[in-house]
Amino acid sequence: MKAVLIGLGSVGRGVAEMIATKNPGITITGIADSKSGCICNEGIDIAAVLEHKRRTGACGDPAISAMDVIKKADYDVLIEVTPTNALTGEPALGYIRAALAKKKHIVTSNKGPIALAYKELSALAKKKGVALRYEATVGGAIPIMHTLEDGLNGNEIIAIYGVLNGTCNYILTRMAAEGLTYEQALMEAREMGYAEADPTYDVKGIDAAIKLVILANTIWGNGTKLADVDLTGIDLLTPDALRLAEEGDCTIRLIAEAIPKKKILRVSPRLIEKSHPLVVEGTLNALTIETDMAKEITLTGRGAGSIETASAIIGDILYIRDHYGKRA
Ligand code: HSE
Repeated sequence: MKAVLIGLGSVGRGVAEMIATKNPGITITGIADSKSGCICNEGIDIAAVLEHKRRTGACGDPAISAMDVIKKADYDVLIEVTPTNALTGEPALGYIRAALAKKKHIVTSNKGPIALAYKELSALAKKKGVALRYEATVGGAIPIMHTLEDGLNGNEIIAIYGVLNGTCNYILTRMAAEGLTYEQALMEAREMGYAEADPTYDVKGIDAAIKLVILANTIWGNGTKLADVDLTGIDLLTPDALRLAEEGDCTIRLIAEAIPKKKILRVSPRLIEKSHPLVVEGTLNALTIETDMAKEITLTGRGAGSIETASAIIGDILYIRDHYGKRA
């Protein structure tokens, strides 16, 4: 498979490093960051590009843009891993549309375009006979999309609920365990690099709500929008609230839940027993899927991180190789 990689931040770097070191049969023919790009249809020397980026801050030639790479390189799959813009989805949305127009498969970790324009993009991908895959948008390394489409094939999905934001989970864990204030815990979470560029997306529950929208549209195809989610963040929680929860052998977690039959679509801090499977520690994510046949399945794992997210991206590319074959 030939692929172009658009975005060379934490996720892009992880993808590039894993393709270079694990050699899973993916040749990178184009790379772009926000400032520059490079194209080599025979295969880019990934180590050299990463070193150039480390030294200069740019991955290639400033005269080559991301759109140039998408339009001019020879490839089968666009790997789109630029930062999320939840309001417009741009510039990722434009990149994905341009690659779909050229009948290229899409693999993205970008929540903005999938939450905003899933219906349009999936219809366009279908029309062009290519795949639109976005495992990395929800739950990081947790294979939730693969589980839904393959493992639970034939099941009716009744509900989905879980911990979808690692930053909030880290803050709540630290506040309960160490008695830190919300501000202290948030500062630590930011230093770990898991928080969004604007951490209000995390603490106000917006990031978790975006992921819930992606899941709802994937499972039920019901045109769910961010504005439909009933939203309460963790930014007003006090250490006292967590202390009180502890006294009842409970704790507080930011839970995202979608239960269409009950018209429930919400993200809110919830009091839960410490022994509950959704009570995961630190930056972990956890997700319960409730179905008619399998009943409850809970998946737990790392919801963010450079290499962890690369796991989801590479899994999607190899899925395309196995299900769509290599294009001529
Ligand atoms: N800011 C997100 C989180 C990153 O904390 O979960 C992964 O989407």
